[in-house]
Amino acid sequence: MKNLPLLFCGIFFCIAFSWTGLILSSQIQFGSLEPVALEEGERPRPQKPVGFASQGKQVYTENGCLYCHSQQTRRKGFGADYERGWGDRQTVPRDYILQKRVLLGTMRTGPDLMNIGGRIPNREWHHLHLYDPQITSEGSIMPAFAFLYKKQKIEDAPSPNALNFPKGYAGAPESGYEVVPTDRAEALVDYLLSLKINYELPESKFAAE
Ligand code: HEC
Repeated sequence: MKNLPLLFCGIFFCIAFSWTGLILSSQIQFGSLEPVALEEGERPRPQKPVGFASQGKQVYTENGCLYCHSQQTRRKGFGADYERGWGDRQTVPRDYILQKRVLLGTMRTGPDLMNIGGRIPNREWHHLHLYDPQITSEGSIMPAFAFLYKKQKIEDAPSPNALNFPKGYAGAPESGYEVVPTDRAEALVDYLLSLKINYELPESKFAAE
């Protein structure tokens, strides 16, 4: 084994080069990014999500939403994201700096969700869609997440958060019963509604028409 030092040097340099390329260079490029306010007096962006959104992110990850949905919009003229109305500007590294786990996603079986809270701000819509995507989006291939909801007997009056199924919907509960979101479903919708790109950053301004 007279080549042992050479082998050792080879291994060392491989590790050192990949560490420099993957970790050190990203740290130098993005490590010092901080939330910024474009104008004085404005709140610095991005901001930490409030409420149950972070628990909702956990539900999102556990249920594999990220296998079908990305969270990154491309700039106008680069792919069809802008034309599809998925975002008014491209997303940039600073958008993600407050996230411990960034769920960029690799597949787009469904639409990009980086700005879903801005595009569909309706809580009820999200609950119906998650309960059964066919209600809001006929022909959808998205699986139903009905297990995040529970059927219960209506006691005195219907619960304020019970789902309002459209007339004639075959999956609606029999009379005297209602379907309500579990805490996990509420947190998941909080999370979806928190996904909003409604602010500009120095690196990326809203695309002009
Ligand atoms: C097998 C792939 C698949 C999985 C898994 C999946 N989706 Fe979807 N999703 C789709 C498809 C396809 C659409 C487009 C049709 C529709 O609106 O249902 C969609 C649409 C959506 C929309 C509406 C987007 C829009 O622009 O109209 C939301 C919100 C959404 N999904 C959230 C979720 C969440 C949250 C989860 C996890 C609990 C999830 N999806 C899991 C495929 C998927």
